[in-house]
This record gives sequence, structure tokens and C-alpha cells, in this order.
Amino acid sequence: MQATITVLGGDGIGPEVTAVAVALLQEVAALGGHTFTFQEALFGGCAIDATGDPFPTETRSLCENCDAVLLGAVGGPQWSDPSAKVRPEQGLLRLRQHFGLFANLRPVRTYPMLAGHAPLRAELLEGVDMLFVRELTGGAYFGARQEQGDGDTAYDTMIYTVPEVQRVARVAFRAAQTRRKHLTSVDKANVLASSRLWRRTVEQVAPEFPDVRLDHALVDSFAMQLIRTPSRFDVIVTENMFGDILTDEAAVLAGSLGMLPSASLGEGTFGVYEPIHGSAPDIAGKGIANPTGTILSAALLLRYSLNLAEEAAALESAVIKALESGARTADIAESGAPVLSSAEFGERVRVALRKVG
Ligand code: IPM
Ligand code: MN
Repeated sequence: MQATITVLGGDGIGPEVTAVAVALLQEVAALGGHTFTFQEALFGGCAIDATGDPFPTETRSLCENCDAVLLGAVGGPQWSDPSAKVRPEQGLLRLRQHFGLFANLRPVRTYPMLAGHAPLRAELLEGVDMLFVRELTGGAYFGARQEQGDGDTAYDTMIYTVPEVQRVARVAFRAAQTRRKHLTSVDKANVLASSRLWRRTVEQVAPEFPDVRLDHALVDSFAMQLIRTPSRFDVIVTENMFGDILTDEAAVLAGSLGMLPSASLGEGTFGVYEPIHGSAPDIAGKGIANPTGTILSAALLLRYSLNLAEEAAALESAVIKALESGARTADIAESGAPVLSSAEFGERVRVALRKVG
């Protein structure tokens, strides 16, 4: 097949990790006889420096004219001045909003070969395999806000409508149907009105999916259960900010923030694929970032936007094979063990992919 992929490396380690994933997508194309065309564009802080806008018109039109977007990360200290009017993160929010990417899929699993490195006991990590469905275009990220630079008041509004909750709930229920048929909806219904609407709406959607067992959890106690009994969970659906926070927490289960991929989807097949980690300015430019989250995001891109399920699975198992063979970037290496650069790690995945694919 032919596909056009827009690559938004962004800031910090973003371009380093997307470069590794692009090389692997090229390998996937070569192995499967596909033609992938890559087009790069400015996004985030580097786009502010070049054009004054984190999501320039030219970038937007390249994204409009492609099958999927592979994104690195945005942000960095040079654009973090609290009084700045234009911020890299605004580009990301506008990208999500422009394409109506309301469902952010964040799969979380554990890796037995990394268990020795994990801060949690190995038996807690056994059988952990969950999928977060984070609502991505609503809540406090997009509600009315007022920022008073020199005043003493500021507010954000956590706002949801029934259709917004229904559509993301349906994505989560459908995902649960293909998995262990268990959905946990996370909210703060004992305090927040938007959470009460959330819970009521999820309940109303539930009868459409009689084969899925639904339960609800309050976000504070869920945050604790996520670490205490992580293998109990299958699919988790939650609002934008809770999902942001909980998935960083869940990354501890996978061994590193660098391991987790994500897919941001709307109604069609177009999607934006990015690791859940940030731009990590402290290690940027050193070539040592863990590209796994971005490689696994590329696998999700193959699966959801290009309908190449076999290729996606092959890339995912190549990552596992590379990890099993001892390939480690600094963040997941036990002390004294050999450490690979981002590019070397990618190369190990490529070797494994040739054997699997
Ligand atoms: C994420 C990030 C973003 C978010 C930031 C960079 C705006 O933390 O994708 O999880 O909060 O959604
Ligand atoms: Mn986040």
C-alpha cells in the first residue's frame, strides 16, 4: 500500500526518537512491499522560533494531506516563561482539537525482562495489560479559562457534554469487547458535577455493550489501586486531565516513561501517534533517549491508520525480541549493564524485525 506520514519531531528528544521510528517504518515498508512517504514539518517550540506559531499553517496543511502523523514531543525551558502568550503545548492542543482527536489510546503492559529494574515488586507486575482511553478534546484543557498575569485570580473550567462522554465511552466499550471485556470508568463523582454527568452517561451507554462488565472508580482511590493491583484492570476510560496524570503513573508499571506509546483518534482512520513522554530537555541532543514509546506508537499507526495489523504486530514483537536479547537504553538498564544509544536500540529492533517479519 501507499501512505503519507507527516513527521513532527518537535522539541528536545522528539526528533531523536521519531528518527528511530521512521527508520523502522521504512524497514516495515521494504519488508512488506509498501511505499511510505514521509514529510517533515515544524511543530512546538521550534515552530515558535521559526514562525511565531507552534502549529503553523504550513504544518497544518501537511497534516491535513496525509494518512497519519508521527509526533515526538514539544516544550522546553526556553519556552516555559509563565508570562509567555505563545507556548509549544498550545500547538499540541490545537492539533488535537483541529482534527477532533477525542480518544487517546494508551496501552500499558509490563515487561518481564525489565522486572529487575522496576521499582515495584515483580509479582505485582505479573499479567499487567491494560488500555487507557483518555478523553482528549474536552475537560479543563479546553474549557473557559481566565488567566490574570498580574492579578490574584485564575481559573480553568472542567466541562463535559453528554455527546462528548458518549463517543469516548463507546470507543472504550468497543475496545473492551476485543479484550477481557472489563471496563473501569474513572471519575470524581463524589465532588465534581462534570464527573456525575460522566458517570451517568457511561451508565447510559453501557446497555449497548451487554457483554462488557462495567465498574466505576473514584480517581483518588484508583490512583492507589493502579499500583497496588494493576493486573485487575483491562480497559480504563477517563476524562482528559485524570488520564494525563494516571498514565504517567501507569508508566512506572512498564519500567519507564519512555516505554509508553499512544494513539489519538477521531471518527475516521486519521490519527496522531506519539510517545506519552515529554521532550526531556535534560538529555536532549545526546542520542540516549529511549525510542521504545515512539516505535510502539509507529506500530499503533500501522494498525489504526493504515490497517496493517500484521506489520504492527511484527514491529511490536521485534521490540520485545530486542528487549529479550538484552538491548537497553540508559533509562531501563540495570546498573553496570551495557547501555545503547537510541539509534543502536533501533538497530537491534530492526535486526529482530527482519527475523520476525
Ligand atoms: C501528554 C502531555 C500533554 C498533555 C502536554 C504536553 C500538553 O503531557 O500528551 O500527556 O497534557 O496532554
Ligand atoms: Mn502527559
